[in-house]
Amino acid sequence: QIWNAGEYESHGRFISDLGAPLIDLLKPRPGESVLDLACGDGALTERLAASGARVVGVDNAPDFVAAATARGIDARLMDAHALDLPERFDGIFTNAALHWMHDPDAVVAGVHRHARTGARFVGEFGGFGNVAAIVTAVIAVLDRRGIDGAARHPWYNPTTEEFAALLAKHGFDAEDIALIPRPTPLPTGIAQWIRMFCGLFFSGLDDDARADAVREVEDLLRPSLCDRNGTWYADYVRLRFRAVAVAA
Ligand code: BEZ
Repeated sequence: QIWNAGEYESHGRFISDLGAPLIDLLKPRPGESVLDLACGDGALTERLAASGARVVGVDNAPDFVAAATARGIDARLMDAHALDLPERFDGIFTNAALHWMHDPDAVVAGVHRHARTGARFVGEFGGFGNVAAIVTAVIAVLDRRGIDGAARHPWYNPTTEEFAALLAKHGFDAEDIALIPRPTPLPTGIAQWIRMFCGLFFSGLDDDARADAVREVEDLLRPSLCDRNGTWYADYVRLRFRAVAVAA
C-alpha cells in the first residue's frame, strides 16, 4: 500500500474525521505524553496536541510524516512493527491503522514496551466483518480472472475476543472493547475507495484490466452499498477499544 497525503486529503479525510471521538475516550491531559501510532497526515495528532499533551506521531509512510511535520507535529518515520522510541508514554492512540498491520502481535508488544504502567491504549480499526461486502465482491471479480483473491486479503480484522486476548497477552487490560457497525458514506464513491485501498488485491493487473475489474466490483456492490440517491457506503465495522497497561 502506497500512501499519498494529497490523495488522502481528497478522498480519505472522512477516516480521520470519524476517529475524532476517540480523543474523548483517551482523555489526554495537559503535561501528559501521548504516542499517535500510525499518525497518517497528522490531522488527529494535531487535535490530540490541542489538549495540552505532548504528542509524538509515528508512521511508516514518508509522505504522511512530511504532511504531519508540516502541521508542526513531532512526527517520526517508523514502522509500528518495530517501535523504538527513547521514552514511555501516558497514552497511546491509534485510528484506522491496526487493520493494516501484518503482525499485530509485534505491534501490541511494542506498544506495551512504550507504555508506562497505567497508560491508556485507545483505538479503533476495522474489526471482524469489516468491509465484508466489498471484500467478497473483489474476491468474486478476481476469481473470474483465475486469481485467488482470498489469498491476497491484506487486512487484520479480529473479533473482540481475539483482540482482547492479544491485548492481555502483552500486558493490557481491556476495559472497553466492542464491534460497532458503521456504514459510512463515501464522499467520492466506491470506485475511488477501491482504487485507493485495494491495490494489493489487484497487483499484476495492468491499468485497463484494473479499471475493468473495478467497474465489475462496483456493479456487484451497487444493490447493497449504493442508496437511492446514488450515495455509496462502505460497510465498515469498527473495533473500538480502551485498555490499560499493567506492569510487565
Ligand atoms: C478501514 O478504515 O476500515 C479500512 C480502510 C481502508 C481499507 C480497509 C479498511
